Amino acid sequence: IPVDDFDLVIFGATGDLAHRKILPGLFRRFEAGQIPPTSRIIGAARTEQSDDDFRAETARAICEYTSVRKEHPQLAEFLGLLGYVSIDAKGDGGWQELKDRMRPGAVHAFYFSVAPSLFGDIAERLASHGIADNDSRIVVEKPFGRDRASARALNATLAQHFDEHQIYRIDHYLGKETVQNLMAVRFANVLFEPLWNAQFIDHVQITVAETVGVAGRGSYYDKSGAIRDMVQNHMMQLLCLIAMEPPYHFDPDAVRDEKLKVIRALEPVAPADIVRGQYQADGTDSGYLEDAENPESRTESYVAMKVRISNWRWQGTPFYLRTGKKLRARTSEIAITFKEPPHSIFDDSGVPKANELVIRLQPNEGMNMKVMIKEPGPGGMRLVQVPLDMSFADALGPDGADMPDAYERLIMDVIRGNQTLFMRGDEVEAAWAWTDPIIEAWEDGKRRPEPYDAGSSGPDEALRLMHRDNRRWREIRA
Ligand code: BG6
Repeated sequence: IPVDDFDLVIFGATGDLAHRKILPGLFRRFEAGQIPPTSRIIGAARTEQSDDDFRAETARAICEYTSVRKEHPQLAEFLGLLGYVSIDAKGDGGWQELKDRMRPGAVHAFYFSVAPSLFGDIAERLASHGIADNDSRIVVEKPFGRDRASARALNATLAQHFDEHQIYRIDHYLGKETVQNLMAVRFANVLFEPLWNAQFIDHVQITVAETVGVAGRGSYYDKSGAIRDMVQNHMMQLLCLIAMEPPYHFDPDAVRDEKLKVIRALEPVAPADIVRGQYQADGTDSGYLEDAENPESRTESYVAMKVRISNWRWQGTPFYLRTGKKLRARTSEIAITFKEPPHSIFDDSGVPKANELVIRLQPNEGMNMKVMIKEPGPGGMRLVQVPLDMSFADALGPDGADMPDAYERLIMDVIRGNQTLFMRGDEVEAAWAWTDPIIEAWEDGKRRPEPYDAGSSGPDEALRLMHRDNRRWREIRA
């Protein structure tokens, strides 16, 4: 469905995110016929350059980060939508020109792909120059603060000039097809919801394993660590979508209200329930300290934790979260282990094992359900556990393999004015309120993260987190 005619201004248009994600994402949507050809995409950054320079730079970025070739028939047409204004975020330069370029009547969206320290300056100038009005939308990226106090200050800064319904806080995990699928699976089937509680679910494992390290972005990462970089936002969103009550409707506030209730019900995490790791060099693989260019660093590149949700639905069912860099394989999944049948009618032919539902978020998106069946043969009733395996690509045919990038979906939702897949201000603050004490307790201490070899499954300590509960992590494999 095409969206309304729009003017989208990208602040920080010469930066990495714009090159890698935003501009290629917009091109894809243009290619799919979703962007009205009268729309305008205006790059704004400090660099002095012409519209044509920006078009050439955008073409290079699209060809570098996607499989698109410069001869692509629609590329030149897309570049025709682009313009550029050199802007001084902290001064007056460029703002009048930007205003002159905005067309009355079009949807106006402003993408803040800049350091959070500039959010206030840009918001203020958009308002004082009369460029943004009550219908305009602004898009902000993570990191949204580095603790609750800074997130609150950012919210307050934005609130001086924009209402909550105008603010789109991106968590790109919410733009992933398979993450949205969590809601479809839970709330469009009758099969799962009656069992989706502590009575039937033994525990849940949420894994986001990456093979990349932090080389090249160590200066950002070393001040963040896995908890700020992945847990407070992406993992939290996954946890919420799995744990939340059914919203009464698939609409922005109904969904976000339910997520917020989950975050508020999270218990504080005891130090014994959390393991931090830091990858070390292995063979040709460099170690974290080298990648982060900080030989003293205590920043975690891996974290595993046991999380409890204090409400009726989840009392007694732990959620185990783990995420890390330079692990054995790139894989993100949610595994739900059900309880064992309360009684076995099969005496000596094998105890029924617990059912397991694994939702694979990336790669090989799909679902796998482990069920018990009878092993064929005349030898009596012998039980065996087998997978009911479905890859979305197979189930949906060729279109199923074509997963649009998260940014494509999210940018179009901004233009449509749909905030369902964006974080509300109170949600972000509540998530920080939960992670703050975990981070503070660590920063106040002297312990070092547990070392793990690059290319391994993480530190051994993390295994013990599970073993002491008589449980095991699922293997990390592609
Ligand atoms: C980003 C983090 O938000 O998400 C990165 O800053 C991380 O450290 C990335 O690598 C993971 O995203 P994806 O889409 O590759 O799973």
